Amino acid sequence: MVEEIKHIHSYYSPSDLYNQIIEGLNKLGTDLSKVTLDDLQPVDEFHIRGDTATKELIKLSGFTPGLHILDVGCGIGGSTRRLSYETGCRVTGIDLSDEYIDTAQRLTRLLNMQERVKFHAASALELPFDDNSFDGVWSLQMNMNVEDKLSWLTETYRVLKHGGRAVLYEVCGGKNTPLYFPVPWAQDSSMSFLVPPESFRDVITSAGFDITVWNDKTDLAQQAFSQVQEPVGEPNLPVLGVYLLVGNDIGTKAYNLHRNLDEERVSLIETVAVKPDC
Ligand SMILES: C[S@@+](CC[C@H](N)C(=O)[O-])C[C@H]1O[C@@H](n2cnc3c(N)ncnc32)[C@H](O)[C@@H]1O
Repeated sequence: MVEEIKHIHSYYSPSDLYNQIIEGLNKLGTDLSKVTLDDLQPVDEFHIRGDTATKELIKLSGFTPGLHILDVGCGIGGSTRRLSYETGCRVTGIDLSDEYIDTAQRLTRLLNMQERVKFHAASALELPFDDNSFDGVWSLQMNMNVEDKLSWLTETYRVLKHGGRAVLYEVCGGKNTPLYFPVPWAQDSSMSFLVPPESFRDVITSAGFDITVWNDKTDLAQQAFSQVQEPVGEPNLPVLGVYLLVGNDIGTKAYNLHRNLDEERVSLIETVAVKPDC
């Protein structure tokens, strides 16, 4: 693994994650033989606006049955599975975290979706796939941890077929700096590499893509976090939640994200970028 990203790998490496999720489902009285995507949603869709955003992005993607899509930075695979379930696509997810990938594989077997949904531990900066192998790319809120955005997008471009679309849903910087830390994707500034939306746009086009959709979703992100209060005392955590992925200080992280959004330190962009025909 590239030396500079080892600390990011450790941030996303909780132990025994799958069994903690199963324990949570048992506590909630969920029948493990009938677990649904919705049952897992509180813990497995680790991005702003969760499954609501995923469903909007699926519509935006236009991905159709039979396509093979790559999910870059898939986490434990919530949106990977939902994308496959709703579109009929085969989806392959990769993530830096071995613990997340192990959990993604086991949850996918629990849902009996392993025929169409596969996972590999890998870095977005060194994708273990041939050139022009995927019909589409899907990447939700990973760029924040990637300093070398041009390498990530060049790798993404390389593995995508000509004419293929990349759907990206990404946190960017805002007019103001610095950020309040910790945030859900980083304990401190050594793990967070936000650039303003205009710079993000430039790097996408520098990698060779044509941008066909560019939507600023910051307002919706602000609304989603508008009620988040500064936590006091012991955290009151739900049975299932993304704190299982990144720690019990999730309340502070959510509150800081709320402040960063409101004070224009953070923005949220959805975009579709196309690899031009040869
Ligand atoms: C905020 S989570 C989003 C996970 C998932 N896309 C979702 O929406 O549920 C960010 C993810 O990016 C992954 N990640 C960070 N840097 C990466 C890299 N260089 N290569 C692959 N994955 C990376 C992390 O391990 C983590 O799973």
